Amino acid sequence: MKITVVGAGAVGASCAEYIAIKNFASEVVLLDIKENLAEGKAMDLMQTASLNNFDTRIFGTTSDYKATANSDVAVITSGIPRKPGMTREELIGINAGIVKMVSENLIKYSPNVILIIVSNPMDTMTYLAYKVSGLSKNRIIGMGGALDSARFKYRLSEALNCPASDVSAMVIGGHSDKGMVPLTRLATRNSLSVANFLSSERLNKVKQDTKVGGATLTKMLGTSAWYAPGAAVASLVQSIACDQNKMFPCSVFLDGEYGLSDLAIGVPVVLGKRGIEKIIDIKLSKEEQDQLIQSAESVQKTNKILSDMKLF
Ligand code: LAC
Repeated sequence: MKITVVGAGAVGASCAEYIAIKNFASEVVLLDIKENLAEGKAMDLMQTASLNNFDTRIFGTTSDYKATANSDVAVITSGIPRKPGMTREELIGINAGIVKMVSENLIKYSPNVILIIVSNPMDTMTYLAYKVSGLSKNRIIGMGGALDSARFKYRLSEALNCPASDVSAMVIGGHSDKGMVPLTRLATRNSLSVANFLSSERLNKVKQDTKVGGATLTKMLGTSAWYAPGAAVASLVQSIACDQNKMFPCSVFLDGEYGLSDLAIGVPVVLGKRGIEKIIDIKLSKEEQDQLIQSAESVQKTNKILSDMKLF
């Protein structure tokens, strides 16, 4: 199993590290445009192999897409991250051109690849990758919901004073501060509704903290977070590479599911060897469905900027 990670910045490198530590891939190619950055990070990571007991070979390259040939899965983290105070949507002007170019280069050498999009604004970049790659929609996956759900579980575990592994919860909708829809109604601790343990005020705070999870870290770190984004990607890649059929909320191209079409937005999907094996179309409450529609409208507004850029 060969995995390519484009972008050897903090998210890309963290993603390569978690994939290697999980030890399921034979090869990870790390590619960056900055001379020697990917080579250096790959070498540094390879020097942890004997310490962390992995056999995955990590190979770095400066923009040589030939080295990515025949990748099974490719992760796109390229582009600029947000700075404190910025929204993910503000990155579109720079990141759209980069994601288009990277997608086209990857497809040239790996025509059957499964793409995972991390670059922001993530839902719109997933839509762009679908439009420019010519890949079938089950091969294009935006990772936001998996990350947002991990952050939701963290906030719930904090409120419940329990380990995150006790918590099951999901965030659907767009990967944006306003667009996320944390499904508090369905969140559980060991199958018991979290409403048994937390007041609606506390749950509301958990929901708000989750929605600004990325912005909170960007403010603290001066740039966008990387450990949880990297770990979220590695989990998605593993479910595909090992055909685990695990369920994650991911941004996927919808064709009528949830009453939505012609956009990519976060909904629950099953990930296996064909990429998206199944989109899970559950019935939401009226309030949740309204929030999802609102989120979709906001994603569509950002997609409109993309069509004005005439990239496809
Ligand atoms: C975040 C970025 C990866 O939410 O969108 O941290």
